[in-house]
Amino acid sequence: MRTLRENKINFYKNELNFRKIAQELYKDNATEHSIYICDLTKVQRQFELWQDCLPNIKPYYAVKTNNDALVVKTLAELGAGFDCASVEEMQMVLEAGVTGDRIIFAHPCKPLSHLQYAQQHQINISTVDTEFELFKLKQHFPNSDIVLRFRSDAKICGWPLGKKFGCEAQTDTAALILLARSLQLKIAGTSFHVGCECEDLEAFVRALSTARELYDVGKMLGYDMNFVDIGGGYHGGNNEFFKKIAKTISSSLDLYFGNEPIKCISEPGRYFVEAAFTLVCKITGKREMRNALGQLESIMYFINDGKYGSFIDTGRDFSNVMYFSENHLEQQKYKTTIWGPTCDSTDKIVDNLYLPRLHRGDLLAFPNMGAYTLCLASKFNGIPLPKVVYYQQQN
Ligand SMILES: Cc1ncc(COP(=O)(O)O)c(C=O)c1O
Repeated sequence: MRTLRENKINFYKNELNFRKIAQELYKDNATEHSIYICDLTKVQRQFELWQDCLPNIKPYYAVKTNNDALVVKTLAELGAGFDCASVEEMQMVLEAGVTGDRIIFAHPCKPLSHLQYAQQHQINISTVDTEFELFKLKQHFPNSDIVLRFRSDAKICGWPLGKKFGCEAQTDTAALILLARSLQLKIAGTSFHVGCECEDLEAFVRALSTARELYDVGKMLGYDMNFVDIGGGYHGGNNEFFKKIAKTISSSLDLYFGNEPIKCISEPGRYFVEAAFTLVCKITGKREMRNALGQLESIMYFINDGKYGSFIDTGRDFSNVMYFSENHLEQQKYKTTIWGPTCDSTDKIVDNLYLPRLHRGDLLAFPNMGAYTLCLASKFNGIPLPKVVYYQQQN
């Protein structure tokens, strides 16, 4: 894990000049790593947009999305809360100066040592979706504030989570609340996650309607139930869509909870970081494919990051890839395949892209690479992990 002290922030005035920064970073073949350009101002802007659109919902950044220390520090200073899934994540957030009451331990299945760590650091709120987890809490953390996670899936989303997490609202929740009561545990409220990159506006309406039903059930059984956690699932690179979702969420909260004294939180991950990171890669090799007449038909490039590094998520949009060359480039574009650096033949980043004829040493820059990238990268084949350089706009 990088420490805060190693991280230097570079300041810029108007716009970030990716070409200039990328070429400077790779000057004289000084590095073989792929490099992230992180614009912390974008993280701040996302926070401000959140405050404008959803002022009554406190964002708890899902650290799993990108556990970069400066991102965590930036959000901590802005006043965000944090969704953590493990000791390491909790530790990192606490080290950024955040107190336990601004953290939710949002993993519904918690290893004991992680639970003990949460208890020692007054991280009291945690998510549960089975009776087994209730028994675990009874034994190891009986005075925690429990949030029941129920399943409520978006009809269209990039990454559904409901098959793995969330109890069935209609059949399981009342039984779990009753069990919690008999174990003298405290149920604080409910949570859900509609699925990542949700495209279904109505998903939040349905989920909040269910949350209200469970609120009533919990109240009937003697609990306050004033904690409503609406999970994550927002796009990171499409703020217009976020504004629409935010409107739907606000009106559904009004509709279902009106003046009820609830504390509403959300666990956005991708939303805060996706657009803040641009990945710059170097072309380390190429192969030109010709037809029987010797005419150039398509080109393969081999670059210094791949499927086992930053590109594990295969559903990316590559239409906005930038290319930087110190050579003159012809106008003509060729069918292009980009391969990752390992010996695995499935380590392919993209096919069917059209780019001009590039050269070894030229650079490719991929925008919107801040979510579920760096945190998933492995050193398979001994390929070094990417580095990060930081930028922030000067006021
Ligand atoms: C419990 C929980 N909360 C929040 C998130 C963040 O989701 P997103 O990046 O879609 O906002 C996830 C992602 O897997 C999650 O599992």
